[in-house]
Amino acid sequence: MAIKTVGVLGCGLMGSGIAQVCAASGYRTIVREVNDTYIEKGLARIRTFLEDGVAKGKTAADARDRTLDNLSGATTFEALKDCDLIVEAIVENVDEKKQTYQALEKIMSERAIFVSNTSSLCITELAAATRRPDRFGGLHFFNPVPLMKLVEVVRALTTSDETYQTVFAFAKSLGKEPITAPDRPGFIVNRLLVPYLLDAIRAYENGLGTIDDIDAGMKLGCGHPMGPFTLLDFVGLDTTYYIANIMFDEFREPAYAPPPLLKRMVLAGRFGRKSGHGFYKY
Ligand code: 3HC
Repeated sequence: MAIKTVGVLGCGLMGSGIAQVCAASGYRTIVREVNDTYIEKGLARIRTFLEDGVAKGKTAADARDRTLDNLSGATTFEALKDCDLIVEAIVENVDEKKQTYQALEKIMSERAIFVSNTSSLCITELAAATRRPDRFGGLHFFNPVPLMKLVEVVRALTTSDETYQTVFAFAKSLGKEPITAPDRPGFIVNRLLVPYLLDAIRAYENGLGTIDDIDAGMKLGCGHPMGPFTLLDFVGLDTTYYIANIMFDEFREPAYAPPPLLKRMVLAGRFGRKSGHGFYKY
């Protein structure tokens, strides 16, 4: 199926990045938020990224202009009615996602495909909440979306072969390198990444070393772009805690159990970069 117009639900960090790469790849892209303030904030983030890209010599000025021309913001669901593909990147709350799909289905064409950018919720459960479980899948992007090459393509139990192939080809058309991941909490990357991050917190609690030394160890010793605590602050401690709980609920393995310090930092509002304070201060 040919995809020309893409709708993105949510213009936060992930949604704005997804909208940007769709528009940059030539798709007419409409990004929807609940109010104008969120739309403006998200579009401003995209403009800043593109301007920085031009200043760094990474983005051509005409590519910046084409991307912005392909992009528009909206606060209604009706604005998305002609979209061939909808990428949902709203808050990680099953009920809100289900309500959003149901509202959208009233106006979307029967053939439109829905994909969720959820990092940990069950794709089969989300698909089952729609009237199109065969035209539903997972498309999990990584932060920062315009820079990270990976996308995980996730099949629900009900996803048709045609939908899977269309979504996989769509991910490639964005200049990404898609991999196929199972509909299991954490898919492939978070299944391996989250226990590593949790283990770093446990090791720190047990006196392995300072935050700076553990970060420097993994960065300089293993060539990781960020040490575990810098990455935790970057991903968000609340997000990591949320994913860990979902993984622990499903697998019941100690490796996925959130350590006490992580829980307390989240309770204290130390979410990382986004709140100005996590393992580091910003
Ligand atoms: N436009 C175009 N290119 C840009 C740009 C812009 N506005 N800003 C930066 N770039 C380019 C740079 O020019 C550079 O390119 P080069 O390698 O060819 O020189 C590259 O992007 C890296 O940029 P910087 O040099 O400015 O920054 P860093 O080298 O510090 O890298 C980073 C930043 C890419 C974020 C790197 O630190 C990194 O990869 N960190 C790890 C991120 C990560 O692990 N993300 C996944 C998190 S898990 C997740 O998202 C899943 C979720 O479910 C939890």
